[in-house]
Amino acid sequence: MASPTVSFLLIIITTVLLPSPSSSLTSQPSNFFPSNKPPRFLGKHSHPIKTNHQQYRYETRYFFQPLDHFSFSDLPRFRQRYLINTDHWVGPSRLGPIFLYCGNEGDIEWFAVNTGFVWEIASRFGAMVLFPEHRYYGESMPYGSREEAYKNATTLSHLTTEQALADFAVLITDLKRNFSAEGCPVVLFGGSYGGMLAAWMRLKYPHIAVGALASSAPILQFEDIVPPETFYNIVSNSFKRESSSCFDTIKQSWNALTSEGQGKDGLQQLSKTFRLCRELKSVQDLTNWLDSAYSYLGMVNYPYSSNFLMPLPGHPIREVCRKIDGSPDGSSILDRIFNGVSIYYNYTGDVDCFQLDDDPHGMNGWNWQACTEMVMPMSSDRNTSMYPAYDWDYSAFGEKCRRDFQVTPRPRWITTEFGGHDIEHVLKFFGSNIIFSNGLLDPWSGGSVLKNISETIVALVMEEGAHHIDLRASTTEDPDWLVEQRATEIKLIEGWLDTYSKKMQATFTM
Ligand SMILES: *[C@@H]1O[C@H](CO)[C@@H](O)[C@H](O)[C@H]1NC(C)=O
Ligand SMILES: *[C@@H]1O[C@H](CO)[C@@H](O)[C@H](O)[C@H]1NC(C)=O
Ligand SMILES: *[C@@H]1O[C@H](CO)[C@@H](O)[C@H](O)[C@H]1NC(C)=O
Ligand SMILES: *[C@@H]1O[C@H](CO)[C@@H](O)[C@H](O)[C@H]1NC(C)=O
Ligand SMILES: *[C@@H]1O[C@H](CO)[C@@H](O)[C@H](O)[C@H]1NC(C)=O
Repeated sequence: MASPTVSFLLIIITTVLLPSPSSSLTSQPSNFFPSNKPPRFLGKHSHPIKTNHQQYRYETRYFFQPLDHFSFSDLPRFRQRYLINTDHWVGPSRLGPIFLYCGNEGDIEWFAVNTGFVWEIASRFGAMVLFPEHRYYGESMPYGSREEAYKNATTLSHLTTEQALADFAVLITDLKRNFSAEGCPVVLFGGSYGGMLAAWMRLKYPHIAVGALASSAPILQFEDIVPPETFYNIVSNSFKRESSSCFDTIKQSWNALTSEGQGKDGLQQLSKTFRLCRELKSVQDLTNWLDSAYSYLGMVNYPYSSNFLMPLPGHPIREVCRKIDGSPDGSSILDRIFNGVSIYYNYTGDVDCFQLDDDPHGMNGWNWQACTEMVMPMSSDRNTSMYPAYDWDYSAFGEKCRRDFQVTPRPRWITTEFGGHDIEHVLKFFGSNIIFSNGLLDPWSGGSVLKNISETIVALVMEEGAHHIDLRASTTEDPDWLVEQRATEIKLIEGWLDTYSKKMQATFTM
């Protein structure tokens, strides 16, 4: 029953780890800093920030980047934003490491507040912390404004992973020179698409970074590598393992939606049932909205309450299924579904009506990336998935990209550029120092590296983990496996740095 847009929108939406509105960050009280300990860097752009329960701070700086690193064309430079903290850095003489988080598709401040792990371990390593923003997101807009940068396929043409990695490489090289820190080792971090960037950067720029922690990085979610139905199957299984009747209700709801929508005043009726702010234009819009709620729930199915994409209770899928299954006897399928997704879209209870086409996070950038390089095929199996059945249809996908952006996707480019096929054998012989960490509840885990490749290319696989939970700040509710996982990551990173400093010492004493 599904049309290609289901899958298209889902890929777009689920791949994007959306930035939260930065207004909530800038509205922090101005006396946020303890007065007795002024931060080392507190420029006029500084924003005090906060992750779960701990406070971190950084200075916001800007660096001018070439728009095209791979040609000498005379294009205007653009201002890349980066966040920096040197409070704990032990400096060049002691080879203080530099922790660089590879900014992904959103406002960098949002990633900074959701990556507590890096901030927490910086003091233990005496490390500098850097969060450079990905070009074409947040404040790092070419051509001076988002509007100009996103104008057309020509202005967007420099929004690529290769350019973003080159931005990071150029920035860190320049920054090290400014600090006379050329000898200091760089460790890369990243989650989701940022995790893909971290892994790829380690492979492309081994002289710039000594290792990478790539969390929930689906570097294999490309053509002919993993089966395209993997993503939806994982989400579906997460619902099924909570309750098979919940799975069944969702699976049946798509037909119920369609038939309700086809009835007299059907769209009006659906708009009422789902308390939409504006009347539905098509059932598809509602399907997409439900679809993305379930997929996001699969990603953020954390064991404790969180506020990553949305404020949610711990084990949110369990809560959604409780609502679906526990609706009063005689409730219709659609009433049950409404009660269930209200956990996702209205957990705080302060939503008056639902806005389907709301785009508070500015996702267009990812739409472009998905329509060019980041083509991640997805299908929905009619038996094992609770979503509407859908077979990946490349030509329909390409049509939509040409319509939306006047661009034709190149589904094989990423694997040509970075590899992916037969990764175990390929990386075994030339790669080193990468941690691929994944939680099996995370639907993106299916497209990630889940096996140890060598002594130093290591997969940490957590059965109960969700989307890059290891990168989040520690909490008192962390399960033991998570505490252990982070300890293993710290140990592996220590190992890379030890090897590095021994090598440096040997060079000095030679
Ligand atoms: C895209 O916009 C730029 C800037 O306005 C303009 O110079 C260029 O001709 C446009 N390109 C296309 C293909 O429309
Ligand atoms: C390094 O210093 C130069 C000169 O002050 C400055 O223009 C540049 O932006 C600095 N680099 C970084 C990465 O901040
Ligand atoms: C959101 O939840 C609150 C509290 O349960 C409820 O009063 C409100 O009607 C809900 N909003 C929508 C759109 O359902
Ligand atoms: C899906 O289920 C149908 C009906 O139960 C069955 O005939 C078919 O073989 C199944 N397909 C797969 C791929 O398992
Ligand atoms: C990979 O090796 C590490 C030890 O370096 C171990 O902790 C981990 O469990 C192994 N992963 C898998 C998937 O076997």
